[in-house]
Amino acid sequence: MKRIGVLTSGGDAPGMNACIRAVVRTAKYFGMEIYGIRQGYAGLINDDMVAMEMRSVSDIVQRGGTMLRTARCVEMYTPEGQKQAAKTLNDRGIEGLVVIGGDGSFKGAKSLTENFGIPTIGIPGTIDNDLEYTDYTLGFDTAVNTCLDIINKLRDTMTSHERISVVEVMGRHCGDIALYSGIASGAEIIVVPEIRYDMDDIVMRVNRSRANGKHSNIIVLAEGVATAEEFTKMLQSETTYSVRGTTIGHVQRGGSPSMADRMLAAQFGNKAVRLLKDGIGDRVVGIRKNEIIDLDIIEAVSMKKKFNYELYETLQMISL
Ligand code: F6P
Repeated sequence: MKRIGVLTSGGDAPGMNACIRAVVRTAKYFGMEIYGIRQGYAGLINDDMVAMEMRSVSDIVQRGGTMLRTARCVEMYTPEGQKQAAKTLNDRGIEGLVVIGGDGSFKGAKSLTENFGIPTIGIPGTIDNDLEYTDYTLGFDTAVNTCLDIINKLRDTMTSHERISVVEVMGRHCGDIALYSGIASGAEIIVVPEIRYDMDDIVMRVNRSRANGKHSNIIVLAEGVATAEEFTKMLQSETTYSVRGTTIGHVQRGGSPSMADRMLAAQFGNKAVRLLKDGIGDRVVGIRKNEIIDLDIIEAVSMKKKFNYELYETLQMISL
């Protein structure tokens, strides 16, 4: 393959820039031409792209966001949109495409592969960690670290006032951000979409922790269950302790990527281009048991994310 493209799609994630850099630099290493497509699939449909060189990606390894911009492109879900995207690639002589994004973005890549025979490689870029085939997605580690920073601060003030804090984190239908930030922050309780919660049990756990000498409580709530406002109201009507709700929101998606995310970005980006260089497409890259892997894109998209119940039990055992 002599000419390839790269785009970022869906919600941005810290580490996307570092990954674009790895893709561009690897392509250049192999003497390939590489085009940066702006605003995800929208740029592909509207033919909005720029040729990238070694220096196009200088000074971005440490930056959050994505220099290529991103979008959630509804047109890419339609046959007309997909056809137009494929046409742009064919007209430009672009033989392979790297898509950095989440589940929805992979579906777009899958359609280009399945319906138009365009080799694509998917790189999992989302803070949600909601893809089953990979242990971690790009941006998840940084997002959790951002949550930890905020929860640490909340703990200070909650303890001063002997309050309960309900902290809403992102993750869509996946509870991983809540699970990991709950364990790592020492939260007493997490509430996730994968497990039905029982308000009586939550109140009992709060009371037990207070009887054991605790002066505050942190409840990490996944957005897929309820908003912090809704949950705080419900809990306040069941307890005499004062409850406060906080929504972390889009802060989770910004900021300089952590070491872990920069390492993933470098390895994912490099692997994706090596595959295309060898004429291999229709794959996604990921990490399993600390090893960079690649897998059939259709298989990866059809896998259902499993919740880590063992980690959930760990939290329950060590938090009170
Ligand atoms: O998929 C990433 C994510 O941040 C989810 O956690 C969240 O539900 C969603 O995107 C928010 O989307 P938007 O930025 O479009 O409001």
